[in-house]
Amino acid sequence: MTKHSVSLHPDVEKVLIDSAALQARVRELGAEISRDYEGRVPILLGILKGSVIFLGDLLKSLSIDCWVDFIGVSSYGGGRHSTGEVRLLLDLRESAAGKDLILVEDIMDSGLTLHYLLDTLKARNPRSIEICTLLDKPKCRKIPIEAKYVGFKIPNEFVIGYGLDHQERYRNLPYVGVMKSGK
Ligand code: IMP
Ligand code: MG
Repeated sequence: MTKHSVSLHPDVEKVLIDSAALQARVRELGAEISRDYEGRVPILLGILKGSVIFLGDLLKSLSIDCWVDFIGVSSYGGGRHSTGEVRLLLDLRESAAGKDLILVEDIMDSGLTLHYLLDTLKARNPRSIEICTLLDKPKCRKIPIEAKYVGFKIPNEFVIGYGLDHQERYRNLPYVGVMKSGK
Protein backbone atom coordinates (compact mmCIF):
# COMPACT_ATOMS: atom_id res chain seq x y z
CA MET A 1 0.00 0.00 0.00
CA THR A 2 1.47 3.38 -0.95
CA LYS A 3 1.02 6.41 1.24
CA HIS A 4 -1.36 7.85 -1.39
CA SER A 5 -3.71 4.90 -1.64
CA VAL A 6 -6.00 6.12 1.13
CA SER A 7 -6.81 9.45 -0.52
CA LEU A 8 -6.23 8.56 -4.18
CA HIS A 9 -9.11 9.79 -6.31
CA PRO A 10 -10.87 6.87 -8.05
CA ASP A 11 -10.34 8.46 -11.48
CA VAL A 12 -6.56 8.63 -10.95
CA GLU A 13 -4.41 5.80 -12.30
CA LYS A 14 -1.31 6.78 -10.35
CA VAL A 15 0.35 9.73 -8.67
CA LEU A 16 3.02 11.18 -10.94
CA ILE A 17 4.27 13.99 -8.68
CA ASP A 18 3.30 14.06 -5.02
CA SER A 19 2.62 17.13 -2.95
CA ALA A 20 6.05 17.21 -1.26
CA ALA A 21 7.88 17.01 -4.60
CA LEU A 22 5.67 19.79 -6.02
CA GLN A 23 6.33 22.07 -3.04
CA ALA A 24 10.08 21.45 -3.16
CA ARG A 25 10.39 22.12 -6.89
CA VAL A 26 8.19 25.22 -6.78
CA ARG A 27 10.40 26.61 -4.01
CA GLU A 28 13.45 26.03 -6.25
CA LEU A 29 11.77 27.83 -9.16
CA GLY A 30 10.88 30.73 -6.85
CA ALA A 31 14.48 31.03 -5.73
CA GLU A 32 15.73 30.93 -9.33
CA ILE A 33 13.27 33.62 -10.48
CA SER A 34 14.10 35.77 -7.44
CA ARG A 35 17.81 35.62 -8.37
CA ASP A 36 17.20 36.32 -12.07
CA TYR A 37 14.88 39.28 -11.47
CA GLU A 38 16.67 40.91 -8.56
CA GLY A 39 16.22 44.69 -8.69
CA ARG A 40 13.24 44.38 -11.03
CA VAL A 41 9.52 44.05 -10.35
CA PRO A 42 8.18 41.46 -12.82
CA ILE A 43 4.51 40.83 -13.53
CA LEU A 44 3.61 37.20 -12.92
CA LEU A 45 0.93 36.61 -15.46
CA GLY A 46 -1.11 33.58 -14.51
CA ILE A 47 -2.87 31.81 -17.36
CA LEU A 48 -6.34 30.90 -16.09
CA LYS A 49 -7.45 28.62 -14.76
CA GLY A 50 -4.91 25.81 -14.61
CA SER A 51 -2.03 27.87 -13.21
CA VAL A 52 -3.75 29.21 -10.09
CA ILE A 53 -2.47 26.71 -7.50
CA PHE A 54 1.04 26.75 -8.97
CA LEU A 55 1.00 30.55 -9.12
CA GLY A 56 -0.13 30.79 -5.48
CA ASP A 57 2.71 28.56 -4.27
CA LEU A 58 5.24 30.22 -6.57
CA LEU A 59 4.31 33.69 -5.26
CA LYS A 60 4.95 32.60 -1.69
CA SER A 61 8.44 31.45 -2.64
CA LEU A 62 9.49 34.72 -4.30
CA SER A 63 11.73 36.97 -2.24
CA ILE A 64 11.50 39.92 -4.67
CA ASP A 65 8.67 42.39 -5.23
CA CYS A 66 6.33 41.46 -8.03
CA TRP A 67 2.94 42.19 -9.51
CA VAL A 68 0.29 39.61 -10.30
CA ASP A 69 -2.14 39.66 -13.18
CA PHE A 70 -4.18 37.11 -15.08
CA ILE A 71 -4.93 36.22 -18.65
CA GLY A 72 -7.61 33.80 -19.77
CA VAL A 73 -7.42 31.58 -22.82
CA SER A 74 -9.29 28.61 -24.10
CA SER A 75 -7.84 26.14 -26.56
CA TYR A 76 -9.32 22.78 -25.75
CA GLY A 77 -13.08 22.83 -26.05
CA GLY A 78 -13.24 20.32 -23.18
CA GLY A 79 -11.40 17.46 -24.91
CA ARG A 80 -8.01 15.91 -24.19
CA HIS A 81 -6.37 17.27 -27.33
CA SER A 82 -5.84 20.80 -28.49
CA THR A 83 -8.16 22.00 -31.20
CA GLY A 84 -5.41 24.38 -32.25
CA GLU A 85 -7.81 27.28 -31.91
CA VAL A 86 -6.78 29.65 -29.14
CA ARG A 87 -9.24 32.27 -27.89
CA LEU A 88 -8.46 35.14 -25.53
CA LEU A 89 -11.17 35.09 -22.84
CA LEU A 90 -9.69 37.64 -20.42
CA ASP A 91 -6.99 40.22 -20.99
CA LEU A 92 -4.61 41.55 -18.35
CA ARG A 93 -5.59 44.76 -16.52
CA GLU A 94 -2.20 46.43 -16.71
CA SER A 95 -0.36 47.71 -19.75
CA ALA A 96 2.43 45.32 -20.73
CA ALA A 97 4.58 48.05 -22.29
CA GLY A 98 8.03 48.28 -20.70
CA LYS A 99 7.26 45.53 -18.16
CA ASP A 100 9.05 42.28 -17.35
CA LEU A 101 6.41 39.62 -17.96
CA ILE A 102 6.59 36.06 -16.68
CA LEU A 103 3.84 33.90 -18.15
CA VAL A 104 2.88 31.27 -15.58
CA GLU A 105 1.31 28.16 -17.10
CA ASP A 106 0.24 24.78 -15.75
CA ILE A 107 1.44 22.66 -18.66
CA MET A 108 3.00 23.06 -22.10
CA ASP A 109 1.72 20.49 -24.55
CA SER A 110 1.43 21.34 -28.26
CA GLY A 111 2.82 24.81 -27.46
CA LEU A 112 0.00 26.50 -29.37
CA THR A 113 -1.43 28.38 -26.39
CA LEU A 114 1.89 29.90 -25.36
CA HIS A 115 2.90 30.63 -28.93
CA TYR A 116 -0.32 32.60 -29.39
CA LEU A 117 0.17 34.46 -26.09
CA LEU A 118 3.82 35.29 -26.82
CA ASP A 119 2.83 36.72 -30.21
CA THR A 120 -0.02 38.72 -28.74
CA LEU A 121 1.98 40.11 -25.81
CA LYS A 122 5.22 40.82 -27.71
CA ALA A 123 3.22 43.18 -29.92
CA ARG A 124 2.63 45.32 -26.79
CA ASN A 125 6.36 45.96 -26.32
CA PRO A 126 7.13 44.51 -22.90
CA ARG A 127 10.73 44.92 -21.71
CA SER A 128 11.05 41.15 -21.47
CA ILE A 129 8.85 38.09 -21.60
CA GLU A 130 9.59 34.59 -20.30
CA ILE A 131 7.61 31.42 -19.68
CA CYS A 132 7.41 29.55 -16.39
CA THR A 133 5.53 26.27 -16.70
CA LEU A 134 4.99 23.71 -13.96
CA LEU A 135 4.87 20.80 -16.41
CA ASP A 136 6.28 20.25 -19.87
CA LYS A 137 5.38 17.46 -22.31
CA PRO A 138 8.16 18.15 -24.86
CA LYS A 139 7.26 15.15 -27.05
CA CYS A 140 3.86 16.71 -27.82
CA ARG A 141 5.12 19.93 -29.31
CA LYS A 142 3.52 21.02 -32.62
CA ILE A 143 5.31 24.33 -32.67
CA PRO A 144 8.91 24.94 -31.48
CA ILE A 145 8.77 26.84 -28.21
CA GLU A 146 10.70 26.51 -24.95
CA ALA A 147 10.08 27.72 -21.43
CA LYS A 148 12.89 29.35 -19.43
CA TYR A 149 11.54 27.85 -16.19
CA VAL A 150 10.20 24.29 -16.17
CA GLY A 151 9.09 22.46 -13.03
CA PHE A 152 8.98 18.91 -14.38
CA LYS A 153 9.30 17.30 -17.80
CA ILE A 154 6.68 14.56 -18.02
CA PRO A 155 5.79 11.83 -20.52
CA ASN A 156 2.89 12.08 -22.92
CA GLU A 157 0.10 11.21 -20.51
CA PHE A 158 -3.01 13.15 -19.57
CA VAL A 159 -2.54 14.49 -16.07
CA ILE A 160 -4.87 16.12 -13.56
CA GLY A 161 -4.62 17.81 -10.18
CA TYR A 162 -2.72 20.75 -8.63
CA GLY A 163 -4.76 23.09 -10.86
CA LEU A 164 -4.98 20.87 -13.94
CA ASP A 165 -8.44 19.76 -14.94
CA HIS A 166 -10.37 17.46 -17.16
CA GLN A 167 -13.69 19.07 -18.05
CA GLU A 168 -13.23 21.44 -15.08
CA ARG A 169 -12.86 18.69 -12.46
CA TYR A 170 -9.90 17.50 -10.38
CA ARG A 171 -8.16 20.89 -10.00
CA ASN A 172 -8.28 20.51 -6.22
CA LEU A 173 -6.22 17.31 -6.00
CA PRO A 174 -3.02 18.11 -4.05
CA TYR A 175 -0.86 15.98 -6.37
CA VAL A 176 -0.38 15.61 -10.16
CA GLY A 177 -1.82 12.27 -11.21
CA VAL A 178 -2.30 10.34 -14.44
CA MET A 179 -5.98 10.09 -15.29
CA LYS A 180 -7.46 6.66 -15.87
CA SER A 181 -8.20 6.13 -19.55
CA GLY A 182 -11.84 6.06 -20.55
CA LYS A 183 -12.81 8.79 -18.06
P1 IMP B 1 -1.08 23.53 -25.60
O1 IMP B 1 -1.63 24.74 -26.26
O2 IMP B 1 -1.35 22.28 -26.41
O3 IMP B 1 0.37 23.65 -25.19
O4 IMP B 1 -1.96 23.26 -24.33
C1 IMP B 1 -1.80 23.88 -23.14
C2 IMP B 1 -3.08 23.76 -22.35
O5 IMP B 1 -3.74 22.50 -22.58
C3 IMP B 1 -2.77 23.78 -20.88
O6 IMP B 1 -2.87 25.07 -20.36
C4 IMP B 1 -3.82 22.87 -20.29
O7 IMP B 1 -4.97 23.62 -19.96
C5 IMP B 1 -4.18 21.92 -21.39
N1 IMP B 1 -3.52 20.60 -21.23
C6 IMP B 1 -2.56 20.06 -21.99
N2 IMP B 1 -2.18 18.85 -21.54
C7 IMP B 1 -2.94 18.63 -20.45
C8 IMP B 1 -3.01 17.54 -19.50
O8 IMP B 1 -2.29 16.52 -19.55
N3 IMP B 1 -3.92 17.70 -18.49
C9 IMP B 1 -4.72 18.77 -18.37
N4 IMP B 1 -4.68 19.82 -19.21
C10 IMP B 1 -3.80 19.74 -20.24
MG1 MG C 1 -4.57 25.67 -19.15
